[in-house]
Amino acid sequence: MRSPKDFFKPLAVGAPAPITQVPARPSRVIHFFDPSNEKMAAKVPAMVGTVDVLLGNLEDAVKADRKEAARAGLVAIAKATDFGEHTQLWTRVNALDSPWALDDLTTLVTEIGDKLDVIMVPKVQGAEDIHYVDRLLAQLEAKAGLSRPILVHAILETARGMANVEEICGASPRMQGLSLGPADLAADRRMKTTRVGGGHPGYLVRQDPVEGDIRGEVHGPRATYQQDLWHYTIARMVDACAMHGILPYYGPFGDIADVVACEDQFRNAFLLGCVGTWSLHPVQIEIAKRVFSPTAEDVAHARRVVAAMGDGTGAVMLDGKMEDDASLKQCLVIVELAERLAR
Ligand code: GLV
Ligand code: MG
Repeated sequence: MRSPKDFFKPLAVGAPAPITQVPARPSRVIHFFDPSNEKMAAKVPAMVGTVDVLLGNLEDAVKADRKEAARAGLVAIAKATDFGEHTQLWTRVNALDSPWALDDLTTLVTEIGDKLDVIMVPKVQGAEDIHYVDRLLAQLEAKAGLSRPILVHAILETARGMANVEEICGASPRMQGLSLGPADLAADRRMKTTRVGGGHPGYLVRQDPVEGDIRGEVHGPRATYQQDLWHYTIARMVDACAMHGILPYYGPFGDIADVVACEDQFRNAFLLGCVGTWSLHPVQIEIAKRVFSPTAEDVAHARRVVAAMGDGTGAVMLDGKMEDDASLKQCLVIVELAERLAR
């Protein structure tokens, strides 16, 4: 089991050259682009510095007859672009049981392995998928003479992947994090939804009836409260990631026009422990950055608690509320995040 501090330690990834893990950098927003779409690809250089992660997507949403073009497009963009210190380059390769995954991995590591920070692997079912990618990466990195390991991020989007979530997180020291893939996961679970992430108006609880008025004929309609379809899944993912010292992320929110519901979904994930999310459209970038950064008020309050707690033991009263070692630890999470983002 790794702790987050181990992000700074050397990793044994099986490659002959000594390889040093890179420090975790902010990744509140993972902005997806289609490298086979020339118009979209042309905008990538201008986005460097404005997003934490640019991700060249090769998987779903790229048409089957554009897979090679997307791969070649990503190689060309990566070679031509300096991503600087503040923007990472990730890719999402095709699923391991597709005809394209092996060529994706081989071409990308060989051609642009020095530029790629993280490879996102979709539809991961268990540790065996991560072991396969890990060994392949070790060979390809050694052959290409790379001195920095490429990290691996798994998308949780099958029922089997969910059942194996802990072993997936711990399957390799390359594991960087997990994202929720709500669309594929909903299909695999045979949920009766048709959306890409977010809630559903039918998933609700209804206020208890006033006695004798089940139909609301006397006292008017009973209130309903929409519930979060993804609560269990995100909480489970966050626990597994925390246990293994890797990072949890929300995933896609497909209703681009509904920026309000998008923000709500992102915020739920942030509050539950996720560090970031995907952005599928430029309008989601600012939402993600805002939501996955602690507010100035939260940071100020957290700093007050840290100061009031002195040596960190015992309990104090602040604004009528009890603070102790445990609330101090929560505050330190906020302060540390704020400090990392300010760097
Ligand atoms: C993402 O890949 C999803 O299936 O939601
Ligand atoms: Mg998917």
